[in-house]
Amino acid sequence: MHGPPGVLDEMPVWYYACINRMMTTGSTQEGFRVNTSDRRIAFFDALAAQWDDEEPSSRTMTERLSQQADLLDLRPGQALLEVGCGTGKTTAWLAAQVAPGRVTAVDFAPEMVARAERKDIDADFACLDVCSNRLDCGRYDVVLCFHSFPHFRDQAAALKNIAQALKPGGRMIVMHLAGSAHINRFHAGVDGPVNHDVLPVGAEWEPLLAAAGLKQVTLMDREDLFFLEAVHETGRAG
Ligand SMILES: C[S@@+](CC[C@H](N)C(=O)[O-])C[C@H]1O[C@@H](n2cnc3c(N)ncnc32)[C@H](O)[C@@H]1O
Repeated sequence: MHGPPGVLDEMPVWYYACINRMMTTGSTQEGFRVNTSDRRIAFFDALAAQWDDEEPSSRTMTERLSQQADLLDLRPGQALLEVGCGTGKTTAWLAAQVAPGRVTAVDFAPEMVARAERKDIDADFACLDVCSNRLDCGRYDVVLCFHSFPHFRDQAAALKNIAQALKPGGRMIVMHLAGSAHINRFHAGVDGPVNHDVLPVGAEWEPLLAAAGLKQVTLMDREDLFFLEAVHETGRAG
């Protein structure tokens, strides 16, 4: 949902078709029942069946991630948590960067996680909600929210959870392959539970991060890239 300009402009066609199917049949393309008790989870569950076929492709994403390797600064041996992994389009690439360290990849949509697990990626997958399910304390060197942060229903709670999951000095990264203006405009045009989802901009980040015990280190917001990096301030876990 957060590809570069041009790619995103194509997306509403399949997006609406998928949501319409879910609303009318209660099931996805391949006949799984969706979890309709939570509209957000149901929304992403319904997208899971065709997520891998949609742009940006896994290849495009990982090429773009490779181009930002210096910024990402992932190192062998690190423990990395990928929040909102979807079907794991980026997970294998991340796992290769930190091996022999581990990637734990989580998502709150069971069908997304099920599809990621079937790919035999050398990573650990779990279905959980970063806003409400407590993450392991002090476990991760890096927490990456790639194309997912705007969708967290309680961003302050997610940040506190992420902060306590980081080792002291650990880094949280929020990354999109487009700028905030494009992402926020795109979501505002979607008819569904993500309609009001926003990626915070500029000065909005500092108080959000500070409340979680995180300190902003880098904020880049340009047309083709959003990259926010914050560190867990020792002794100030949220
Ligand atoms: C736009 S998709 C991106 C998926 C994947 N990162 C990618 O780029 O292909 C956003 C993902 O975030 C997940 N998500 C949204 N809110 C979440 C939450 N509170 N906890 C865990 N995952 C969440 C959704 O289920 C969805 O798979």
